[in-house]
Amino acid sequence: MADWSPTEYLRFTAERSRPFADLLALVRREPATVLDLGCGPGHLTEHLRRRWPRAAVVGLDSSPAMLDRARAADPAGRYVLGDVRDVAAGDPVEAAPARPDLIISNATFQWVAGHRALLPDLARRTRQTFAFSVPGNHDAPSHRLLREVAARAPYAAVVGPVARRAVGDPADYLDDLAAPGWEVDAWETTYMHVLSDTDDGRHPVLRWISATGAQPVLHALDAHDAAHGTAVRAQFDAEYGAALREAYPTASFGTPLPFRRVFVVATRTS
Ligand SMILES: C[S@@+](CC[C@H](N)C(=O)[O-])C[C@H]1O[C@@H](n2cnc3c(N)ncnc32)[C@H](O)[C@@H]1O
Repeated sequence: MADWSPTEYLRFTAERSRPFADLLALVRREPATVLDLGCGPGHLTEHLRRRWPRAAVVGLDSSPAMLDRARAADPAGRYVLGDVRDVAAGDPVEAAPARPDLIISNATFQWVAGHRALLPDLARRTRQTFAFSVPGNHDAPSHRLLREVAARAPYAAVVGPVARRAVGDPADYLDDLAAPGWEVDAWETTYMHVLSDTDDGRHPVLRWISATGAQPVLHALDAHDAAHGTAVRAQFDAEYGAALREAYPTASFGTPLPFRRVFVVATRTS
C-alpha cells in the first residue's frame, strides 16, 4: 500500500483523538515507560508525554511518512519505525524497554491481520497496563458501501475483493485477555460525530474515510490511473461519494457520522 498522508489524517483531529482520551481515562497506574503502537503523526504520543512528564515514551509506527510528521511536530519525542507484529514476537524496539509499563494503541490493530492472536503476547510484554481501541464500524454504511461500490465494474478488476476488516467485540477481547492476575475492562461506545463541510467540496464522510479505511482501494485506483492514464479514481470518488451523501445526509448543523469503537484496558493485578 502507498504511504499514509498525515495531513489528510489530521483533518479530523478532534474526532479521531476522542477515543484515545477515553481510553487513557481508564489507565489508572502511573507508568515509567510507555510504548505507543501505531503512533501515527505523533500528536497523541506527545499527549502521553505531557500526561506523564517523567516517563520514557516511545512511539512506534510502520509508516515513514507518519514518523516524519511525528518527528517534525514533536522533536523532543522518540519515534521509531517498526511493526506491531515484531513487538508481539519480542523483537527489541530501539530506545524502548523490552517490557514497558504501559503498551497503548489507538486505531491501529484493525490494520494488522490476525491481531487478536497477538494480544496475549503483547499483554505478556506489559508490566502494568495494556490498553487499546479499534474502530468497530466495519458494517457501517461507510464501509459496506465501500465494499459494494468497489465490487462494481470497472473498479473490481483493479482493486479485487475488498475484505471486511475483522475486529472483535468487547466480549471477544475479554476472552482473549482475561486471565488470573489481570483485570480486563472491555467496552464499546458509539460517538455521534458531527462533521463540518470540507473545503474541497467532497462529502465529509468521503474525506474522512479517504484518509483511513478506504486507502487501500484508493491507492490501487491511483496506481492504475498512473500506469494507464485513466481517471478511474475520480469516477470512483463520484460514485462512492454519491452513495455516502445518501447514507449520511447533511443537516443544517453539519453531517452526523455515528462511529462505533471498541476499547480494552487490561491491568495487571499481581
Ligand atoms: C489510523 S492511524 C492511528 C494513529 C494514531 N494512533 C491515532 O490514534 O491518531 C493507524 C496507524 O497504524 C499504523 N500501522 C498500521 N499497521 C501497522 C503495523 N503493522 N505496525 C505498526 N504500525 C502500523 C499506520 O501506519 C498508521 O499510522
